[in-house]
Amino acid sequence: MGGWTEGYVGGIDYIRAVYRDWSPAMLCFALTLRGWRPPEALRRGGGFTLAEPGCGHGLTSALLAGAHPAARFEAMDFNPSHIAGVRRLAAEAGLANAEFLEESFAEYARRDGPMLDVVALHGVWSWVSAENRAILLDTLRRRLMPGGVVFVSYNALPGTLSHMPLRRLLVERCAEGDGPLPDRIARAVEFAARIAAQGGGWFANTEGVVERIEQLRHKSPNYIAHEYLNGDWTAFYHADVARELAAVKLEFAGAAVPMEQLDDLTLSSVQQTLADEMRDPVRAETLRDVMTNRSFRRDLFVKGGERLGRSERRALLGESRFALLVATDDLPEVASTPVGRLPFPRALYQPLAGALTEGPQSLDALLARPALAAQGEEAVLRALVLLTSLSLAAPVTPAEGFAERRASSDRFNAAVLQRHRFGDAPGQLASPVLGAGVPVSRIEALFLLAGRLGEEPAAFAWRHLSADGIVLGRDGERCEGDDANLVELARRHAAFVQRRLPVLEGLGVA
Ligand SMILES: C[S@@+](CC[C@H](N)C(=O)[O-])C[C@H]1O[C@@H](n2cnc3c(N)ncnc32)[C@H](O)[C@@H]1O
Repeated sequence: MGGWTEGYVGGIDYIRAVYRDWSPAMLCFALTLRGWRPPEALRRGGGFTLAEPGCGHGLTSALLAGAHPAARFEAMDFNPSHIAGVRRLAAEAGLANAEFLEESFAEYARRDGPMLDVVALHGVWSWVSAENRAILLDTLRRRLMPGGVVFVSYNALPGTLSHMPLRRLLVERCAEGDGPLPDRIARAVEFAARIAAQGGGWFANTEGVVERIEQLRHKSPNYIAHEYLNGDWTAFYHADVARELAAVKLEFAGAAVPMEQLDDLTLSSVQQTLADEMRDPVRAETLRDVMTNRSFRRDLFVKGGERLGRSERRALLGESRFALLVATDDLPEVASTPVGRLPFPRALYQPLAGALTEGPQSLDALLARPALAAQGEEAVLRALVLLTSLSLAAPVTPAEGFAERRASSDRFNAAVLQRHRFGDAPGQLASPVLGAGVPVSRIEALFLLAGRLGEEPAAFAWRHLSADGIVLGRDGERCEGDDANLVELARRHAAFVQRRLPVLEGLGVA
C-alpha cells in the first residue's frame, strides 16, 4: 500500500463488528451506576451528536444512526475500502443522519463540525502513534461538549506484557518471505505454535501463551493483522491514559462494562480491602489492573461531568428500564465473571426474567413486584448489572420518539437482512427499543428475510447457504444432501419461531 497508512497495517481490512458499549442507553446506565449524571441529550435518547474516529467498517455508527434518527453521527477512517462499504450500506438503508468520512485523524482534526456529546475510540488508542494520539486529543479538546463522554478502549498493562514477545514473533516472522499477507500471517502463527510446542524459555515461564497461540489459529488474518502487525502497538497503564486525557479536561468516570464497576465481581475480598486503601480513583483502578493482570480496558471519561447525589442516583437508576435479550429458558444457571463462576439463583432470576418477558421494565417497577422486593434492591440491581454485562439483557432507550425510531430501524434492518443473503456480516439488527444492536446469526437473518418476502423459510435459507457451499451439521454429523439440510433447517426454524422470534419481536426487530 502507499504512504497514507502512517505505520498502520495496510492492504487488509479489519473485521466487521458492531459494539454495544457506547449505545446511549448503555452509556447512561454505566454512568449513572457509577454516580455520574448522563448527558441530557443521551438520556432523552434523541438529539445527540456522536463521533467515531477510526471507525473501521463503521457498522456500529451505521446501526446507531438507524436506531436514532434524531441524532447525528460522524464516523471516519482513512481506509477507503472501510468507508466505501459503509457508505453503500448507509445508502441502501437511507441513513440521512450519518456521515462516513474517508479521512486521516489529522484531516479530521482540521474539520469544523458541531460540538460532540459522545466520542467513541474503540480499537484505536493502543494501535496508533503518539503523534496520532496527540491529534485525537486535540479533536477532543476542540469538539467535545462540556458534559460530553468519551469511550476509549486499549491494551492494558500489566496483562498485555505476556503478549509482547508473541506480537514480536509474529511481526518478525511475517516480515520473512513473500506472498499475500494472510498467508504470511497463517505461517507466522504456525511457526509460533511450533516454537511453543518445544516449550522452555519464555513459553515455560509465561502462563496462557500456548492457549493464546491456539486461539490465534482460529482467528481471521484480518483480526491478527490489525491487532498485532501495526508499526505502533502500545499497552498502557490505566493511570497513563487517564493522565493523557486529563490534559484535555477529561476525567475518568468508570468502566464502560457495568459489571467491571463492581469490585466484588472482579476482586477477591482481600484484594478489595487493598483497593480500598487507594483514595484516588485512577490509582485504585491501576492497582486493580495489577491485581487482576488485566490486558484490555474499556473506559468512560467525562468532560466536566456532574456527580449525582445519593438520592438522585437512586432516582435515575429507579427510572432506568431494561429488556431481556434471550428467552427465559435460555438464561444460564451460572455466569462467568472475573472472580469465577457465579450461580444465577432461581429465586431471583426466575421472577426477574418472568417480569422482563412482559416487556421492558424499570428497576422501580421490578421492585414493586413482591417476589423481587423480597430479594432486596441491591440484589435486583446487581442481577441487572450482571445480565446487561453478559448481553443477556440491555438497558432500554426512552419510549419518546419510538415511532420514528421504529421506522428508521426497520429501513436499516431491511438493508442489513438483504446483506445476509451473501454473508454473516454485520450480524446485528437495530432495535428501536434498545436504541442498539441485537445479534442475529446468518440463518436467523435468512428466516426473517424469508418472512418479509413471503418465502418458505427453510427453502429460502438453504438456497442462499448452499450457494456458498455451506453444509449444516446436527449432533456432530454432517447433513448430506439437499433433503437432510432442508429437514435440519425446518427443525431450526421451528425452534426459532418458538424461542427466538418472540424475543426479537419484543425488541422491535421482527
Ligand atoms: C483496530 S481498527 C478498529 C476499528 C473500529 N473502531 C472497531 O473497533 O471495529 C483501527 C482503525 O483505525 C483506522 N486508523 C488507523 N490509523 C488511522 C489514522 N491515522 N487516521 C484514520 N484512521 C486510522 C484503521 O484504518 C482501522 O480501521
